Amino acid sequence: MRQILVAGNWKLNGSRDSIEQLISGITAGVENTGDTQIAVCPPFVYIPLVAERLAGSKVAWGSQDISDQSAGAFTGEVAGAMLNDFNCKYAIVGHSERRSLYAEDDDFTARKFAAARKAGLIPILCVGETLQEREQGVTEAVVARQLDAVINLEGVAALGEAVIAYEPVWAIGTGKTASPQQAQDVHAFIRGKLAGLNVGVADKVQILYGGSVKGANAAELFAKADIDGGLIGGASLDAAEFLAICSAGA
Ligand code: 13P
Repeated sequence: MRQILVAGNWKLNGSRDSIEQLISGITAGVENTGDTQIAVCPPFVYIPLVAERLAGSKVAWGSQDISDQSAGAFTGEVAGAMLNDFNCKYAIVGHSERRSLYAEDDDFTARKFAAARKAGLIPILCVGETLQEREQGVTEAVVARQLDAVINLEGVAALGEAVIAYEPVWAIGTGKTASPQQAQDVHAFIRGKLAGLNVGVADKVQILYGGSVKGANAAELFAKADIDGGLIGGASLDAAEFLAICSAGA
């Protein structure tokens, strides 16, 4: 089994006070999470606070997004080198909320993936289909297209140094988790597709599942052969619930 990684995506949530409390809660229970790798992705402005509080702990941190540009006249953007200044390990790219609410397409996502790598960050590349696409039977085609944009720009070997998160859009924040078998089927498709190009990459890449993961369903998901952890939204805002998910991977 590959090492389990549990990453919290806090999305647009938190305040200085609530994040201080959340971090205290997580660090207080982290010794019970075995060798599960853990990371949290706060809103940009709280990254310095999180970096200060988590330095020296087993919990890593990352960003929820990254600019495709490295510097210059790009108002509102945050570049990879800036995230490096605060020792971010990961950068999420292509989250479905970025794709659907902010019109970020496959090619733009691929450029963000490239920007993260260039800065030495580990991209967490999100892929996944909408409910309509699932019902049309095009889940694999959609996921393949999303992966191909990155493979075409950066080469398949780049995915061996990245994390992939399969997040079916219909399972995000809806309380509707993909069944462990539904998730496993898509994870196996992803790994199989990569194996067709480079077996070493397929073996190495961590493929996380995201979409209504909770303490109560995490163990069953992580027990599947191709599910190497989770990208957690709502449940990562509650220290006890997040720790329960991390322990499920231990
Ligand atoms: P939920 O866990 O709230 O469904 O969110 C999943 C997600 O989008 C993580 O990136």
